[in-house]
Amino acid sequence: MRKSSSIQVTKSFLPPMEEYVKLLQSAWHSSQLTNGGSLLLQLMEALKAYLNVPQVLVTANGTLSLQIAIKALKLRGEVITTPFSYIATSAAIAWQGCKPVFVDIEEDHCCIDAGKIEEAITPGTTAILATHVFGNPCNVEKIEEIAIRHGLKVIYDGAHCFGVNYLGQSVFNYGNISICSFHATKLFHTAEGGCLITPDEKLLEKIMWLHNLGHNGPEDFHGLGINGKASELHAAMGLAVLPHVKSLVESRKQRAEIYDGLLQPGLQKIQLRKGTDWNYGYYPVLFDTEAKMLEIKGALNEEQIFPRRYFYPALNKVEYLRGPEMPIAEDVASRILCLPLYHDLGTEDIERITSIINKIV
Ligand SMILES: Cc1ncc(COP(=O)(O)O)c(C=O)c1O
Repeated sequence: MRKSSSIQVTKSFLPPMEEYVKLLQSAWHSSQLTNGGSLLLQLMEALKAYLNVPQVLVTANGTLSLQIAIKALKLRGEVITTPFSYIATSAAIAWQGCKPVFVDIEEDHCCIDAGKIEEAITPGTTAILATHVFGNPCNVEKIEEIAIRHGLKVIYDGAHCFGVNYLGQSVFNYGNISICSFHATKLFHTAEGGCLITPDEKLLEKIMWLHNLGHNGPEDFHGLGINGKASELHAAMGLAVLPHVKSLVESRKQRAEIYDGLLQPGLQKIQLRKGTDWNYGYYPVLFDTEAKMLEIKGALNEEQIFPRRYFYPALNKVEYLRGPEMPIAEDVASRILCLPLYHDLGTEDIERITSIINKIV
């Protein structure tokens, strides 16, 4: 079998360099590299229009965006969250001095099981922080109903959700605050970056000063803040990537369909929630057992192909977060593998990957 250069689970899309450099010229002319420069303002306007959301604040990364969201909503005590997410989700809760309280996931959609949330609510609960796993929306209707009934805030970790619509509108329009990650490995990226989205104008104002060290002008402060600002260099990358996003989604969709056609039928996949217009951010597959998944991963690695155990481990198993057993999340985390998926992944490569998998399955 042909051996070629290594294939990673994802690959950053780089816009034509001249498009990036052209955008940088405005920063060079103004000598303004950060603190709300014109490229950043341009990017935020462009994102607002692209995503069709009321307002967007671009920040330094998705993790800080989560921390700022928790701070802005003054969360304390217990925050109900999912054990099946990237470490940043729970780490942000713990970093802000709150306690992550895990609720198991739905096996089909892999998002927090909204039907189990109420059992976990105590007098100390202040919020629900749920992840739209791989861009698959949570049961947002049920979560909203529970939150209203119990007076809880809702934050959505939409790190994977760039451009995802649910029931005809941006999935970022749900909850008190949603965040997204613009990390280099994401569909839309600014190398490092993220954003906060909220329909609440007053909350946005607060988030603005929170992410800018509390500044109220140069010599006055609203209160305690942190530095979560994005630079002009990052904004320029975002402006250079954004015009390509539609074709990136299309090219991922084509590749996902090739996988669908070549992989043995019957493999367990994550079900998209009905009404979702997806972004093809990931290609996760669940194998029958952890042993089978590890065998497949090992065989692919031998061919210099590096899928990722994403997410693994279940977060209730992480030492500093340790929580009670979460049977479904632990089971899913032990068997899942995200296969390589990116804009210019070759058909030949997908054929190679699927034939290795099919032989073992
Ligand atoms: C679900 C989830 N939440 C949060 C983050 C954190 O985003 P960032 O890397 O931009 O800090 C990530 C990053 O991969 C993620 O996958």
